[in-house]
Amino acid sequence: MQTSSSGYILALDLGTTGNRAFIFNNAGKIVAQAYKELTQHYPQPGWLEHDAEEIWQDTCWVMKTAIANAQISPSEIAAIGLTVQRETCLLWDKTTGKPLHKAIVWQDRRTAPLCHQLQEKGYAQEIYSRTGLVVDAYFSANKLRWLLDYTTGVDLKNVLAGTIDTWILWKLTGGKVHATDHSNASRTMLMNLKTCEWDEQLLEILQIPAHILPQIQPSLGKFGVTDTSLLDVAIPITAILGDQQAALFGHGCDRPGLMKCTYGTGSFLVAHTGSNIVRSQHQLISTIAWTQNSSQENINIGYALEGSMFTSGACIQWLRDGIKLIKTAAETETMANQVADNGGVYFVPAFSGLGAPYWDMNARGAFFGITASVQPQHLVRAVLEAIAYQVLEVVQAINASCSNPMQRLIVDGGACENNFLMQFQADVLGIPVERPTMRDTTVQGAAFAAGLAVGFWDSYTALVNQRQIDRIFEPGEGSQNATANFATWQKAVKRSLDWV
Ligand code: G3P
Repeated sequence: MQTSSSGYILALDLGTTGNRAFIFNNAGKIVAQAYKELTQHYPQPGWLEHDAEEIWQDTCWVMKTAIANAQISPSEIAAIGLTVQRETCLLWDKTTGKPLHKAIVWQDRRTAPLCHQLQEKGYAQEIYSRTGLVVDAYFSANKLRWLLDYTTGVDLKNVLAGTIDTWILWKLTGGKVHATDHSNASRTMLMNLKTCEWDEQLLEILQIPAHILPQIQPSLGKFGVTDTSLLDVAIPITAILGDQQAALFGHGCDRPGLMKCTYGTGSFLVAHTGSNIVRSQHQLISTIAWTQNSSQENINIGYALEGSMFTSGACIQWLRDGIKLIKTAAETETMANQVADNGGVYFVPAFSGLGAPYWDMNARGAFFGITASVQPQHLVRAVLEAIAYQVLEVVQAINASCSNPMQRLIVDGGACENNFLMQFQADVLGIPVERPTMRDTTVQGAAFAAGLAVGFWDSYTALVNQRQIDRIFEPGEGSQNATANFATWQKAVKRSLDWV
């Protein structure tokens, strides 16, 4: 792998639960990092907000701390790659630089009534065909509509809108650049998947003024430079990706047949579909993987199919912090192994409704099959099994949409540390589950993309071929039982639909 002789890449991963900065050296290895947890604001049940100012302050802090930890000078940083939680969005005043309201987070359900109105007016098919997305409170467009309604009376000529990448890019560049990339724009429900531009008809339907929206650019390319007041030097920002797309990039999933699942707050299974928009008959969304200029006029567009499952790691967090059944996430593995089976207990992880393939904003979480003999271990095991069953449903949907069935699942994210979960996942899927040694694939993808875009590295293949596999989980003796129980789990899910 050829590299520029020295220097570093700074990757920023601004996620739902926290913000991180990583410094990569030219061998593609992490040399330093910093992390800050992000405050979650729950103003009402089903609502979730983030303070965009806090995200910006924490971004500055993690950036400076990672640079200090690496004992390098900012002038040694060749480029910055930015990857973010998707769909979360805000409005701000470009004259004061202040947000007009807290950012509305992707999990927030407040716009469910607006989505129902769109469905009742018969827009769902039109929206799907233009954006590849299902009408759901998950996506940004309805959140922007809600924010615009909330700020009625504000002079829109000074207002800018954006997802978290756009906000942070604007701040990093000292208010000079108002842009996003195709992967993030494809999650707004306002970008036309074919033209890769803001769709006038959708802007009309949702009454979103075009001038408040950022310019959409290729994911790998020049977005701007950091304002010198920040780190004393102007560092180019050369990649922006949604976090799930960054993980796809980091895993080397750059062509049809390759898919990955990140087990984070939710589980996000994404399969690259090449330069074709593949449409699912089973409620998966079609989205952008990433884009890059192939020549001055042309853009290489990579598409993907995605199954977004809103709650997975969040259930484990709930077991720990909510009902305090466990003290650490790692305990779930030990507890699940202490029982021979789930004891007839099934869990539906619908804390924020259900995403793929149900898209039911009114579903809510539930345990089924409780009897007097049920132990805490059974409940924990049922939660882990539910995470894997959700993924099975999405893989089945992907296989139904692609010409060849998927042969392997590549994983990352916090919950993939759990050996019970990964083995159960392989058992239910009936295909190997591959866990890499380096699990921070999201941030790795952002770093690789930024470094490749700036010529710091010259071979994507060489970078991703360096990946090392920690463990491959092969389908085993648990397969028969795990598969047999799947139908009962689906029955539980059906009973949780349309609950509120
Ligand atoms: O679509 C939401 C997703 O991007 C959030 O990812 O890792 O921040 O939970 P994460």
